[in-house]
Amino acid sequence: MSAAPQFHSLKVIDVRKETDEATSLAFEVPCGLGEAYTYSQGQYLTLRADIGGEDLRRPYSICSGVDDAELRVAVKRLPGGRFSNFVNDDVTTGDMVDVMTPLGNFYVPVDADAERNYVGFAGGSGITPFMSIIKTVLRHEPKSTFTLFYGNRTISSVMFREALGELKDRYMGRLRLFHVLSDEVPETELFAGLLNAEKISELLDSLVDVAATDHFFICGPGPMMEAADAELKSRGVDAKRIKLEVFGTPAPHASAQPKAANGKDTGPAAKVGVILNGVRTDVAVPFEGTSVLDAALERNLDLPFACKGGVCCTCKAKLVEGEVRMDINYGLEPEEVEAGYILTCQSHPVTDTLIVDYDDR
Ligand code: FES
Repeated sequence: MSAAPQFHSLKVIDVRKETDEATSLAFEVPCGLGEAYTYSQGQYLTLRADIGGEDLRRPYSICSGVDDAELRVAVKRLPGGRFSNFVNDDVTTGDMVDVMTPLGNFYVPVDADAERNYVGFAGGSGITPFMSIIKTVLRHEPKSTFTLFYGNRTISSVMFREALGELKDRYMGRLRLFHVLSDEVPETELFAGLLNAEKISELLDSLVDVAATDHFFICGPGPMMEAADAELKSRGVDAKRIKLEVFGTPAPHASAQPKAANGKDTGPAAKVGVILNGVRTDVAVPFEGTSVLDAALERNLDLPFACKGGVCCTCKAKLVEGEVRMDINYGLEPEEVEAGYILTCQSHPVTDTLIVDYDDR
């Protein structure tokens, strides 16, 4: 069991332009918070800021390795992305930013004796968690290998290009790195085009022994992730060997229940006991409409959340009693659902009473 994630205000100690469209931020972790911000490779941080009077939160993958002695995330500018534009335009060294303690499951625990083969498919800013994973795994598992296929439009839009080159030199023979470019013609035809189903299939046929690969990691645009996941499964790869990190936040699920003119849900409600930091608060949550998370936030409970789209798992909690239905779940592993974990931003009561524990993660 681990405590509910919490925000702390951290000082930005370095701002680095990774490409014209992406910036990375390193944070100072004060004495006393070192343990809270200890992370596993591939995890993410949720940043929070008041932008235009609105409390906005976004999850960003950590790009530092666990031995890098820094805590760094990378943020790519998105068209119309209020948070990503704020980071790329306004955040400077010395600023204080609210940063949630690390979360995420996009990793396999390292094992110094393991002799594993890993394969990754990254697209655009989906490279970020791979920086952390590759650095950590190749350092801590001296007999393991990593093959990375990284899709971009052009070579100038490649994030961490230099750092990837350095890693390739350092781990010659154990890191294979293949850039796949859609808007430029590389020397080899195999590496030209989009990372779509056809290209992924070609790359696997030519360069990967699928049966001898222990774990596959996929992070990038939705269509690429779906294509890679489907292709691997069609080749008999068990879902347990495939890790997906979805960070294109889908729109929050629309409420099926009409609300009253004052914006409040109408209709019957369940009694939901919300446990946070050892304290239980009872909240009325309608069977239709507002989610468990939103109903509890309306009661001013300081609950963890980021995307509200069923993706990031920041709002994960243990359902101790009762039953819920989730609108969508892109984030929880099947074993977690079986163990009773729910995404509270997507959950609606099915039974008259629920107990939801945010302290049990
Ligand atoms: S807040 Fe991201 S899954 Fe619920």
